[in-house]
Amino acid sequence: MVQERIGARTPTEKAHEPALGTELIPKERYTSKEFMQLEWERMWTKVWNIAGRESDIPNVGDYFTTELGPESFLIVRETPDRVRAFYNVCPHRGNQIRNAGMGHAESFQCAYHFFEFNLDGSKKFVPDEDTFTQGVPQETALVEVPCDTWGGFVWFNMNPDAEPLLEFLEPVARHLEPYRFEEFSIMADKTIEWDCNWKASVDAFNEVYHVQGIHPQLLEGLDDIHVQIDLYERHNRYLVPMGIVSPRYQNPEEVTDGLRGRLRNAGVDPAEFEGRSAEVRPFLQRRARELAEEQGMDVSALNDDQMSDDYHYYLFPNITLNTHHFSFGFFRQRPHATDPNKMYFDIQSYARLPAGTEAPRPVHTQHRHGDISLGLVMDQDSYNLPRVQKGMNSRAYKGLLINYRERRIRHMNKTIDDYLFGPDR
Ligand code: FES
Ligand SMILES: [Fe+2]
Repeated sequence: MVQERIGARTPTEKAHEPALGTELIPKERYTSKEFMQLEWERMWTKVWNIAGRESDIPNVGDYFTTELGPESFLIVRETPDRVRAFYNVCPHRGNQIRNAGMGHAESFQCAYHFFEFNLDGSKKFVPDEDTFTQGVPQETALVEVPCDTWGGFVWFNMNPDAEPLLEFLEPVARHLEPYRFEEFSIMADKTIEWDCNWKASVDAFNEVYHVQGIHPQLLEGLDDIHVQIDLYERHNRYLVPMGIVSPRYQNPEEVTDGLRGRLRNAGVDPAEFEGRSAEVRPFLQRRARELAEEQGMDVSALNDDQMSDDYHYYLFPNITLNTHHFSFGFFRQRPHATDPNKMYFDIQSYARLPAGTEAPRPVHTQHRHGDISLGLVMDQDSYNLPRVQKGMNSRAYKGLLINYRERRIRHMNKTIDDYLFGPDR
């Protein structure tokens, strides 16, 4: 990986536009249990999923669990160089091996009849083994699934014949290498239960068409019109210019409150900034490089736009990364076990800290929609989602009417169909 990183840059070229049609996207994809079941059998059980952060299991025996739909997985550092993933289920009578969370173990003892397993999942000890008159097969073990790491994350795949992780992540793993995600620290970690389909939540972040509607304040600090959209085989991205006033804003020449806030965040007193509105973004880019140098961070592989903008990547099916030079926001949408009208939204933030500094790992917390504020922008984003889901279930509603700026939604739905019905359907 280090070899690949040398000289690697995030490409900025516009990708070829696939023809995706203009039809309504049937609403049943977001509301029906049948479609949910198809997604589970043919998509969720075939794709690479992020389980968690590799830095949460630094030592041999460290583990955490991760939940996806009806399943739970146990992620374990078996050796200094090897992380393994198992279904979190005991092969005796089906008890879960570990409750949700993280910890450390020399071996895994099931809390019911005390079957015990080694860190590689193999059987270690069965109490009263001679009473299993049929014999306890030697292969009685935790059921393992393919597991790999990239970007500081542990990934797993329920498909025993899964393609290699890096192949699945093509081309975005290469795109994101210059950021060095594995060097970032987790700064915030929450899960919110939302009353909507997991895709409705993905959709809420994969278009900027809604910015003029629900985030009017953001027009003061980003360009929601000149947004490059690139659709790849599975994954997609858009590049959102930041530190610039939207062409929709009443006075694009104004050094707005939004821009002043960004200057302040960059450690500059806005009163001392004498340039025009259009000069803020290049100024912020130069300033960010200076700050990186002062803090001993190598950002030489990032282009100038990456020093100010949001390179917003969607990793099919459920990871969104708002990437910036010193930080990235992480969203993960997880389907509910049984209900297409519910999902879990994992929101985390990561920061690249100055050389030699560390931050304590935040404690993960779980909430219901509306119990806590996620900040103004996220509260604006999440406000509509239960209403969207209710509306989608209405007899009056037929399906999603998608405009050109919203075409990442169409692309995601097309990719789901590639899994469900084959690319040659
Ligand atoms: S269910 Fe695990 S030991 Fe019986
Ligand atoms: Fe938004």
